[in-house]
Amino acid sequence: MNETQIRQSIIDACLAMNASGINQGTSGNISVRHGEGLLITPTSVPYGDLRPEDIMFLRMDGSFDGPNRPSSEWRFHRDIMRERPDVNAIVHAHPTFCTTIAILEKPIPPIHYMIAVAGGHDIRCAPYATFGTEELSRFAVEALQDRKACLLAHHGMIAVGDTLDRAMWLAVEVEALARQYHGCLQIGEPPLLSEDEIQNVISHMANYGHQKKSAAA
Ligand code: 13P
Repeated sequence: MNETQIRQSIIDACLAMNASGINQGTSGNISVRHGEGLLITPTSVPYGDLRPEDIMFLRMDGSFDGPNRPSSEWRFHRDIMRERPDVNAIVHAHPTFCTTIAILEKPIPPIHYMIAVAGGHDIRCAPYATFGTEELSRFAVEALQDRKACLLAHHGMIAVGDTLDRAMWLAVEVEALARQYHGCLQIGEPPLLSEDEIQNVISHMANYGHQKKSAAA
């Protein structure tokens, strides 16, 4: 993909994020690693109005190029990219069920084996800090340690990936888990899968999907 195509893919992902129901308005923001920095959505521009040239280029020192200001959450996008060489794309959104669990300041526990797609036996909830602050960024980086997703208390959710497609896919999966957990909590405290079983699922998942060899391999 050339740079214009990457910029367009960020806009397409923003529109898909709102169409899928995992975000609303301009509550979310998306970034993709690019060169010595990242391409990131501008702050508070309705996604339907975005043109490729509106996507901002942000350097690791916080300076930026483009006609707008970068997302107010540029710090955690920049800091996650800096701390996590495995991450090339970040999706931040305010999905209703993730945010509901995050308002309770709860992690998502291992209620379903699919929690493994976020990298471990739980999806942590970072403590509350004001949006856009270094403190929030620090909490987010910590909550994402050995994980690909986290909740942000009284705020929303972050999903990361080696590609934008995978970060978007994960964001939808995490919202599904939060919705299931919310449903469980209406009935009572759900029983949980063990940490060992989630590790077992993670190793099985390495072989999941379309394989060239036979199913028995
Ligand atoms: P931006 O419009 O600045 O990206 O902010 C929205 C948001 O998610 C704040 O947490």
